[in-house]
Amino acid sequence: MSQSSNQPREQWASRVGFILAAMGSAVGLGNVWRFSYVAGENGGAAFLVIYIAMILLIGLPIVMAEFTIGRKGQSDAVGSFEKLSPGNERLAPGEPWKIAGIMGVASAFMILSFYGVIAGWILYYLLNYLTGNLWSAPTDGYGAFFGEFISGSFQPIVWQFIFMALTIGIVFVGVKKGIERANKILMPLLGILIIVLSVYGLTLGGASEGLAFLFSPDWSALANPNIYLAALGQAFFSLSLGMGALITYGSYLSSKESLPGAAASVATLDTLFAIIAGLMIFPAVFAFGIDPAAGPGLVFVVMPDVFDSFALGGIFGILFFFLLAAAALTSAVSLLEVAVAYFIRKFNWSRKQASLIVGGIIFLFGIPSALSQGVLAGVGFGDLDFIDSVDFIASNIFLPLGGLIIALFMGWGFKKADALKDSDFGNTVLGNLWLFLLRYVAPIGIIFVFLSSIGVFG
Ligand code: PHE
Repeated sequence: MSQSSNQPREQWASRVGFILAAMGSAVGLGNVWRFSYVAGENGGAAFLVIYIAMILLIGLPIVMAEFTIGRKGQSDAVGSFEKLSPGNERLAPGEPWKIAGIMGVASAFMILSFYGVIAGWILYYLLNYLTGNLWSAPTDGYGAFFGEFISGSFQPIVWQFIFMALTIGIVFVGVKKGIERANKILMPLLGILIIVLSVYGLTLGGASEGLAFLFSPDWSALANPNIYLAALGQAFFSLSLGMGALITYGSYLSSKESLPGAAASVATLDTLFAIIAGLMIFPAVFAFGIDPAAGPGLVFVVMPDVFDSFALGGIFGILFFFLLAAAALTSAVSLLEVAVAYFIRKFNWSRKQASLIVGGIIFLFGIPSALSQGVLAGVGFGDLDFIDSVDFIASNIFLPLGGLIIALFMGWGFKKADALKDSDFGNTVLGNLWLFLLRYVAPIGIIFVFLSSIGVFG
């Protein structure tokens, strides 16, 4: 038997509360910071085409699977598998499927460890816009300012700490109380702001190049096998997928909500946010002569130029970094919640105890990432530095692998009739299409991408 905690589990206040929370998890640094630099490094439009295909064929069906597993299992990422697959005389409950949940908890540690660092950079920029320091270019330019900040040893850790303290604080009081309001107000504001900034960006003189980069594919980029792995990892990262975050959030849902509508809304909104962020960033990238493949610092060097290019742009700088920090916070909360929910049940810890201990450990785990641009430069795998190595292993390997197991579990490990019923699809064409995608398309797609990335297809 799995251990079970005797503390009452949280429930969302309403169906809207759940959708907003899932959206708040999905929309975050992944849509702005990560999408822009990964698309920039992988050829722009060709990447976008593959990315959208992966969202539709692999991501969305697995979002549905996670919601279904969570709501039915009413437990954390690991416990939901234990409850739903009872085992037999040779296998313990949940074996072997719950490996997806265990990997998910590990992914939460890895992702939040570096997510806190990048979000700390956002907070530092927010401070520098609040003080007016970045309203005009520093003596050596915005790029040098950024480089100097991230290569320091003290500041990046301090800001990572502040962000993690906020995240821990919210999970400490409980996700429900902590985030519903932020998602209702601040996320739409961020949406409006990036729409306004992308309309403005079109007047900057880099518009035609920027739009071509984002929307007119150079198909030759498809010959590079790395683009598929990059798109797959980005799809999972951006949808908060493959690590049980959506299982955990689904588990705080009572029964009668329609999951397919929720899944479709989350995936649509998340993808729109990324595309609009691309519209905001790429025309500006070309207007200011920045290399779209500049890497993880891309937003931090482009956006200050944008805010510097019109009167009182600094106010937009304040808003942008504030709202992005808020979006990052609601995502970070969902990451921490995966691990905290697991530890609460497994070790019968209180929510407060689990938040502090787990959050504290993740903060410590993140310190090497915070130092990766300075004293630890050069430490990492191949040509990736430490922070990018952690991101690569978690996002491009752990998340899709977790997603593969989840797809197989729902597609093959579940009885078909149960899967259709528990997902709210019923025996419909859409429901059968969903199972077809889970059974064949998603697993084969993920395995194909893995194999091609290690050069199996030449
Ligand atoms: N989807 C979040 C973002 O785009 C990050 C995240 C990944 C959150 C995995 C939870 C789980 O910023």
